[in-house]
Amino acid sequence: MSKVATTYLEVHPWLVIEKGYHEERTLVSESIFSLANEYQGVRGFFDEGGNIPTLRGTYFNGVYEYAKEDTPISYKGIIKRTHFMINSVDYLKTMIKINGQILDLKSSTVNNFIRELDLRSGLLTREFDWIINNNLSVKIRFERFLSMNDCTRAFQRITIIPTSSCQCDFKLSLDSNVIHWGKDCYWNGLTNYQNDDVIGIMNETLTTKQRLLSLMKVDINKGTNKKIEFSDMRVDLECAVNLNANEELVITRYVSNIVEKDPSIDIDSIFNKGLKDVLESFILGFEKQLDSNIKYWDNIWNKSDIEIVGDDLNQQGIRYCIFQLEQTYHGYSSTNNIGAKGLTGEAYSGHAFWDTETYCLPYYLFNNLEAAKNLLMYRYNTLPQARLRAKELDCDGACYPIATLNGYEACNLWQHASLQIQPTTAVAYAIYHYVNFTKDVDFLLKYGLEMLLEISKFLLSRGQWNPSHTHFSYYCVMGPDEFQMMVNHNTYTNYMAKRTFDYTLELISKYKDTKECQRALRLTKTDDKMLESYKNASEKMYILYNEKTKLFEQHDGYFDLPHIDIKTIPVTDFPLYSHWSYDRIYRNDIIKQPDVLMFLFLYNQSFSLDIKKANYEFYEPRCIHESSLSPSIHSILASELGKDEEALKFFGFSTRMDLDDYNRNTNEGLHLTSIFAAWVTIVYGFGGLRSDGEILTLNPRLPSIWEKYSFNITYQGAKLKFLIYKEGVEVINQTKIPIKLKIYNKEYEIVDNLNLKGEL
Ligand code: BGC
Repeated sequence: MSKVATTYLEVHPWLVIEKGYHEERTLVSESIFSLANEYQGVRGFFDEGGNIPTLRGTYFNGVYEYAKEDTPISYKGIIKRTHFMINSVDYLKTMIKINGQILDLKSSTVNNFIRELDLRSGLLTREFDWIINNNLSVKIRFERFLSMNDCTRAFQRITIIPTSSCQCDFKLSLDSNVIHWGKDCYWNGLTNYQNDDVIGIMNETLTTKQRLLSLMKVDINKGTNKKIEFSDMRVDLECAVNLNANEELVITRYVSNIVEKDPSIDIDSIFNKGLKDVLESFILGFEKQLDSNIKYWDNIWNKSDIEIVGDDLNQQGIRYCIFQLEQTYHGYSSTNNIGAKGLTGEAYSGHAFWDTETYCLPYYLFNNLEAAKNLLMYRYNTLPQARLRAKELDCDGACYPIATLNGYEACNLWQHASLQIQPTTAVAYAIYHYVNFTKDVDFLLKYGLEMLLEISKFLLSRGQWNPSHTHFSYYCVMGPDEFQMMVNHNTYTNYMAKRTFDYTLELISKYKDTKECQRALRLTKTDDKMLESYKNASEKMYILYNEKTKLFEQHDGYFDLPHIDIKTIPVTDFPLYSHWSYDRIYRNDIIKQPDVLMFLFLYNQSFSLDIKKANYEFYEPRCIHESSLSPSIHSILASELGKDEEALKFFGFSTRMDLDDYNRNTNEGLHLTSIFAAWVTIVYGFGGLRSDGEILTLNPRLPSIWEKYSFNITYQGAKLKFLIYKEGVEVINQTKIPIKLKIYNKEYEIVDNLNLKGEL
């Protein structure tokens, strides 16, 4: 893996610190210092802008638009027009002028620049001394945060202290004239608001007609001359004030952003909601609401912290990961999902992928069950779109999209949108994983069964029997490994489909007498004949497995593909997508990301160690990890196989993927779903946790570079802390609810503490 760290941030257990302004890293820092609260996200751009490269991005979960033009080639099944999350109102826009000079970090002289993100509060601070001339320097501090409890609210505080008297003019704006992908604005002006010092603008998206109201109320600790000016989709509050030497000017801006996606709601109701919100926020004040954020984060760290002793880099890295996970999604609404870049940029269009069910869900299963359920409800609520997609592909049932914001397929690369079945099997797997873990039969009967039956119907109609009718399989598919397009008998697809059929049939036989099950069968028009077909398809599913070698073949013909020793590929050729023609990538046995190894991870306990070893050793040297999701799975399997050095190598950069810009593209946004992979690597990899069997099992290992580490999970209502030392393992049950666990293959009932000395 040709990845190199670019280090410019200070290492600290709870802070991310940039000392001195690194102009060449402006866009990377904007991503790293992003704030979000699931409802909205804002990149860490400079409030005052300036003549520097920037992506002034503000995003709202599920606020999207359609591309202005159709996909040039359009056949049946190919997405005609894609949709994407759009850049939205810039509510931090600020202009500061001292004695006629405008603050701009490109041209202004500044000393003592320091930017800090506090993971214990979500407060982002930036501070420096602005040297105006020999006699005048001005200390400027910007602070901002988003409320984690009242997610509509955002806060900005600017403190200005001059060393000698000066004239200070400043302008605070709300501006929806924002461009997406550097060119188009997707907003239309609707109306403005001004009353009792609250000012605002309401705009709507061009075609999806989603409305966004932004209101602000500004508190200034000193009387100023004020002027309010409205222009197209923008309002400016302009102020002028004289400051004495060492006098402190504090400007606090309270913003409330109300997204209204329902066109039937009248404008007055939106205004009333926003007004109430911004006034409440103003009355509570900056400090009190920052305190609630501190409490919020305190609770998260109590519940979900990972402590690593003896490795400061990974300690900061993993906390940064957990911070970003919580910011991106915590179950605020079941209409939200997790974009591959979260709310931190425009790359990947804000789309949610199969990453949600395979990589992100485990974090929520162990930290926030309501959020886990909401992720599944998102798929339930978008069943109609999945049904439509199946029809577009000449199939039945429900086919889930590879990339989406609103449930409709948004990927206009046909080979992914039409050939990848893994988003659909991932939803089935997630239902199994959640229900197996929580025993939430209510969810299963009300929603899960219907989804599984629709998915099974799709899987039956998308698969085919061979001419002699001896096996069922999938033809013309692309598995998770996107370097092999249009293959037959992809083992990942076949195995996941088989397990989906089996699980669905098992549930039907278990619950067939319940009225909910009968309802699900009725709704999905499933009869006994279809259930019989699922059984036949599963029994005769074609799985390319060789008993002797214990190898699964990735797909039919994979073993005959021309071999390339990936070590011979020059580093400068990576990423291959940018340096090799699309078809050249397909014509050999290089793997982009785990395919066989992926299902060996997902259904881990169904396979023997021998099988995992044989396949790991065969596929590992062929994988180039072009997807940032990839190394984690290798690390987890390497840990299980006792290949500790390799496990560490693959873990190496996962917690610091973005802090150290390993993939050279953090400027576009954070690798949010890979951040989940970092958590998975520690808990499933080093912690050896497995949640795909009847009982939770753990086989913790201590990486050689760590003195000790600990992680927390919440399981069946009990809060459990696992401490892994050189001498052994300790489990602390903080809730005293008795819990059955298997550790190192031995079953325990843990009521308070379990101390396994000498077991490691
Ligand atoms: C990977 C996919 C993934 C997507 C979004 C792609 O590069 O190949 O598996 O779903 O990124 O993270």
